Amino acid sequence: TMTPAVAPDVLEGSFSTPLSFPETSLTGTALNAGSQNITTITGKNTQAWGYKNGILGPTFRIQSGSTVSIPFTNGLTEETNIHWHGLLVPAAMDGHPDQMVMPGKTFNYSFKIDQRAGLSWYHPHPHEKTGKQVFMGLAGLFIIESAEEKALNLPAGAYELPLVIQDKRLNTSGGIDYSPTMDEVMIGYMGETIIVNGVHSPFHNVATRTYRLRVLNGSNGRIYNLALSNGNAFTVIGSDGGLLPAPETVTDLLLAPGERVDLLVDFSKSALNSEVYLQSSVFSGVNSQGRQAFKIVKFVVNKAETDSFKLPTSLPEIAPISSSATTKIRTFDIGVGMGTSGGHGGSMAMKGMHTINGKVYSGERIDESVPLNSTEIWEFNNSAGDEPHPMHLHGTFFQVVSRTGGRSRLIASEKGLKDTVLVMPGEKVRIIIKFTNAGKFAFHCHNLEHEDDGMMLNFEVK
Ligand code: C2O
Ligand code: CU
Repeated sequence: TMTPAVAPDVLEGSFSTPLSFPETSLTGTALNAGSQNITTITGKNTQAWGYKNGILGPTFRIQSGSTVSIPFTNGLTEETNIHWHGLLVPAAMDGHPDQMVMPGKTFNYSFKIDQRAGLSWYHPHPHEKTGKQVFMGLAGLFIIESAEEKALNLPAGAYELPLVIQDKRLNTSGGIDYSPTMDEVMIGYMGETIIVNGVHSPFHNVATRTYRLRVLNGSNGRIYNLALSNGNAFTVIGSDGGLLPAPETVTDLLLAPGERVDLLVDFSKSALNSEVYLQSSVFSGVNSQGRQAFKIVKFVVNKAETDSFKLPTSLPEIAPISSSATTKIRTFDIGVGMGTSGGHGGSMAMKGMHTINGKVYSGERIDESVPLNSTEIWEFNNSAGDEPHPMHLHGTFFQVVSRTGGRSRLIASEKGLKDTVLVMPGEKVRIIIKFTNAGKFAFHCHNLEHEDDGMMLNFEVK
């Protein structure tokens, strides 16, 4: 019998390095994937991959309605591309695993931003290499702003903190090490060193007022159960597709790879000169992880300030997709199975064990044909599995309809528009989608080792 693999324990640091933020770009700006020396992770000069000046690419901050043009050059020695995770872009700009940019070549990503305000991100998507390339450092944030959201006067400027949480494994010289074993393909590749915006064990000074924390889980496989170390509640106002219809107050919140949350934290509830950590609390329902609590970033409340910020009780409306319009229910069994389809190139012992309906990814094959403008319910069934799977669809947002088995309920962040939904062992999750974006798109598990192992299919909307 096999003992289930367990996530490596996190090594906490001294939380004495200042948190930093990637540069902000208000327009399209050139990206260049390449290897570079960075100093951010542990303070040592170390080699990682990046898009510009560090482990994370620039944070794009773009007004809804504008058109961006982002010339991308592949400075790596292997193929790569950019997927705009959470942006509703035409299929030809989506960064599907079909659409590779060869080493030395440039591709111009250009699209109109025609969606609500929200926090999206970008990362490479080459089949069987997404996990490696993201882990090596290629990722960045993409924030869409709108007049509608601005009218709410949410905390902004120094009071709005974009936070990318990742875990890295470092080699003895401080460089990033990506070398998954078979067990780590099964559970996802996890590092012992948690970084926020590229910095290990950071702190940030805050005032006694409300802050907006915009958090991406940019890890390959690690799930975080976000909580404040003093047990205080915080307010969830948004997730993948922007603001929720109504704020919800919680004391902890699961965030799986690929998911984003928009949180309000009121530091006036903490004493002046106290320290509050954003941490990951213990959670249950999985074999591989959730058994350890660990700190992520330290907030030092060192400045008295009053703010007049009042959160409206309702936020911009999201029209529920009506299930009476549903023309089809598709069910997907997700988990470990025997890959049956051909065309999968990997070493046989390790690859192709993660499947969707018994299939592993094949680039050319269209697995699901969806009529344009139709409404469908998709069900992800992880009831036979013992690993969590955050399931992501390209090219669309969806609404989560129900979860049965396991947790048997939706969490706060699942009550808005989503592009990634966590399906824990034992769970069946139903989502409803209106397919308005034509073309060929991928859907897959966002545990990147699972994805690279074949847990990805294509759907075509036409
Ligand atoms: Cu964030 Cu198909 O990926
Ligand atoms: Cu998975």
